[in-house]
Amino acid sequence: MGNNKETIITQISDLHVGETQFVPSLLTRAIDEINEMDPDMVIITGDLTGNGFKREYDTAKNYLAPIKCKNIIVQPGNHDSRNVGYMHFEEIYGERYLTFRDNGVMVVAADSSEPDLDNGQIGREYYKFIRHEFNKCEPEEYKIFAMHHHLIPIPGTGRERNIVTDAGDVLEVLAECKVDLILCGHKHVPYIWSVEDMYILTAGTVSCLRLRGKIEPSYNIIHIREDEIDIYRRFPFDKSEKVLGLKRKPEKRKINDRFVKEKKEQKQEAGSPY
Ligand SMILES: [Fe+2]
Ligand SMILES: [Fe+2]
Repeated sequence: MGNNKETIITQISDLHVGETQFVPSLLTRAIDEINEMDPDMVIITGDLTGNGFKREYDTAKNYLAPIKCKNIIVQPGNHDSRNVGYMHFEEIYGERYLTFRDNGVMVVAADSSEPDLDNGQIGREYYKFIRHEFNKCEPEEYKIFAMHHHLIPIPGTGRERNIVTDAGDVLEVLAECKVDLILCGHKHVPYIWSVEDMYILTAGTVSCLRLRGKIEPSYNIIHIREDEIDIYRRFPFDKSEKVLGLKRKPEKRKINDRFVKEKKEQKQEAGSPY
């Protein structure tokens, strides 16, 4: 990445290579579109495979090989950790927890999957790693955290079994670290929420027809400039739409800082035993 230019990140998720609902042309088309965009970074937020099998991993690797971007971050999803698939993941992609930092952007990626379970967690033993990595940032650096599962409920994804089991604690850690953007995947429903001053952007599936309601396969494109951020959702073979355009905030508020502080002061004043 050069200095002082816009950073373009594309997020693709939930490829599900090997499943009957996987559509190869959607993935190859998305990769062609991504190569045309010439992004600085490609982040793949999990579920590359259907069942974590070696053959599926090899096929997914072949599909992803044409991506012409030197900075590719790949994370496992719950489907990739099935059948001890995380072993193959580590063989092909290396670390399941990693940090990438360049040109004023830091990405910390953490594996939220658990072997053979569909639900996930980050796990308190990794909070230290997350804090340590983001603590290296300069105040003006743009901070992105990436994980496979949901961090917050997403409408239209069924009864709530999709957020990480330690979502509250993870949200608190990320808010303390003043993270700007959180990238998720998992249930193939593209969405965006904001909590405190963080945006939680959930990607749909790029290449799988396991779709809920009228949702179509899509992926995310994020443009980061010195003073503003634009987020787009693009549908392979089809249109792209702007999800969000916002000014970067130099200062972040944290509502709960005040709440926790006020509570402490109240306790001291009132001598409350609670
Ligand atoms: Fe998925
Ligand atoms: Fe998933």
